[in-house]
Amino acid sequence: MERIVILTGAGISAESGLGTFRDKDGLWTRYDLADVATPDGFARNPRLVHDFYNARRANALDASPNDAHRALARLESEWSGELLIVTQNVDDLHERAGSRNVLHMHGELAGALCASCNHRWPAPRVMSPDAPCPSCGAPRTRPDIVWFGEIPYRMEEIAEALWQADLFVSIGTSGEVYPAAGFVQEAQAAGAETLEINLEPSRLPGLFDRAITGPATQAVPDWVAGLLA
Ligand code: APR
Repeated sequence: MERIVILTGAGISAESGLGTFRDKDGLWTRYDLADVATPDGFARNPRLVHDFYNARRANALDASPNDAHRALARLESEWSGELLIVTQNVDDLHERAGSRNVLHMHGELAGALCASCNHRWPAPRVMSPDAPCPSCGAPRTRPDIVWFGEIPYRMEEIAEALWQADLFVSIGTSGEVYPAAGFVQEAQAAGAETLEINLEPSRLPGLFDRAITGPATQAVPDWVAGLLA
C-alpha cells in the first residue's frame, strides 16, 4: 500500500478546544449558518460574518495541535509512500503539528480574499468589513473561506488523489457535507481500502471497509503506530 489520502473534519480539532459544527452545542447550534457561512449572509451583514470568523480565528490561534495532528505529521515524515491530507478544517493545526502536504478544501482562517478582485493575502488577526483590499482598494474584504453554495478548492487535485489512492481514511467528520462526504465512494470506486476513525460511527454502517471508534487523540496515534510497525 503506497498512496494514502486522509480526509479530516472538525472532530480532529475538537480535543484542541475548537468547536465542531453538528455535535451538541456545536457552532451550527449557536449560529445560523445562513447568516455567517453563505455569500448572501455576507452581502446582508458583513460585520456579523467578520465577527464570527474573527472569533474563530482567535480561537484557532490560541489553540494547540493535539496528539492526532501530531500523529499524522509523524506518519507523513516516516511513511515510505505518498500521503495527502485533505482537510475541511480552516484552522492551521495540521501545519503547526508539522504536516506539510495539507490541502484546505474549505479555505483557511489565515487567508483573506477580496470579493471584488479576488486578490488573496494573509489575513490580519482581526478583519473588518470596511478594510480596503490591498490590491484594488475596494472595501469588500472577506475571509478566504469556502461558504455553502460555493465550490471547494482544488477539487481536480483531490479527485486525482482519490483515483490513485490505495487507502482512504476519514477522520473526525460527520460526512454530512458534500463533496467531501462523497470521497469515500470515489476512493472505493478506484479500488482503495477505506477506514473511518470517529468518536462514533458517523455514516450508514458498511460505507467504510473498516471503522475505529474513539477520541482522535487516542485512535489516530494508535492507528499510525500500527501502520508504521
Ligand atoms: N474525536 C474524533 N471524532 C470526533 C471527536 C473526537 N474527539 N469529537 C467529535 N468528533 C466527530 C463527530 O462524531 C462528528 O462525526 O467529528 C465530527 C464532527 O462533525 P461536524 O461537526 O459535522 O464537522 P465536519 O464533519 O468537519 O463538518 C463538515 O461542514 O459546516 C461545514 O464547512 C463546514 O467543514 C465543515 C463541514
